[in-house]
Amino acid sequence: FQKWVLMVTAQTPTNIAVIKYWGKRDENLILAINDSISLTLDPTHLCTTTTVAVSPAFNQDRMWLNGKEISLSGGRYQNCLREIRARASDVEDKNRGIKIAKKDWENLHVHIASYNNFPTAAGLASSAAGFACLVYSLAKLMNVQEDNGKLSAIARQGSGSACRSLYGGFVKWVMGKEENGSDSIAVPLVDEKHWDELVIIISVVCSRQKETSSTSGMRETVETSALIEHRAKEVVPKRIIQMEEAIQKRDFATFTRLTCADSNQFHAVCLDTSPPIFYMNDTSHRIISCVEKWNRSEATPQVAYTFDAGPNAVLIARNRTSAALLLQRLLFYFPPNSETDLNSYVIGDKSILK
Ligand code: PMV
Repeated sequence: FQKWVLMVTAQTPTNIAVIKYWGKRDENLILAINDSISLTLDPTHLCTTTTVAVSPAFNQDRMWLNGKEISLSGGRYQNCLREIRARASDVEDKNRGIKIAKKDWENLHVHIASYNNFPTAAGLASSAAGFACLVYSLAKLMNVQEDNGKLSAIARQGSGSACRSLYGGFVKWVMGKEENGSDSIAVPLVDEKHWDELVIIISVVCSRQKETSSTSGMRETVETSALIEHRAKEVVPKRIIQMEEAIQKRDFATFTRLTCADSNQFHAVCLDTSPPIFYMNDTSHRIISCVEKWNRSEATPQVAYTFDAGPNAVLIARNRTSAALLLQRLLFYFPPNSETDLNSYVIGDKSILK
């Protein structure tokens, strides 16, 4: 029998939610209790690179994350692998005389090697980039003929936020109504060129892994918080409409008001959970105060902040001038070699650092 390996490599950036997803109505299919909107980052930063390989010499599916083998036995990986395999088509590499028929995919195994160029599970949405990249590269390897919307519904079953990384620019995850999740997909709102003056600065406050995973955090919030229902039913639907309009109009003042309020409400429902979940720390709070004070001292806001399930700040500056000023302020308030010195990544315009 022939020994050959067929490989595909893909790279997927992470995304940062400006209207947060928090809470599931179906844990297995990963169906959210509210719509969310995110911004997919520039692919050169905070991205996952995944190589998937298939060979008749492989006798089981295996995966390595950042060089270390991890188990694929979890439901999330199994769901993604099963859904992609079910949609596989014939593949042919004429130059190498390799032919894989649709039915052969059931018996062939894959090896997956994935690298994150940023800290994993530190609240920088590494699972978003990871599962989006896994699903996309497997779909290419197995010649899956589905559009990105359908692939997003598969990536969603790996990690909810992953569905939004299948597109660039601003993306909405529509929670959908169907019980089987077929309409719970990502929809692109505007592409990356629409609002390219924005500059994103990620301030890494702490790169350690978070203590409460988003999965168990969401479960505890849905089970114990009285605020979460109000947020999902009354607050987020209105914010989604306003946010879409602000993005279309490039209205930075409204964008900032909604982004900061939504981040703060997400952390408020975490605090309203029993036992309470603390994702932000003192340094995160100091960054918020610093940005709030600055925004209030100007005629119009200069920077929006948002924090995911961790203490690291994602700061979105209205343009490169405010991004440069923001970096100066961060350096002033959090000087290098002090207890809270920050490691900041600038995304969008590296010339600011020169
Ligand atoms: O997709 P998960 O399980 O990593 O959850 C992501 C949750 C937040 O990052 C806090 C919010 C979001 O919408 O990305």
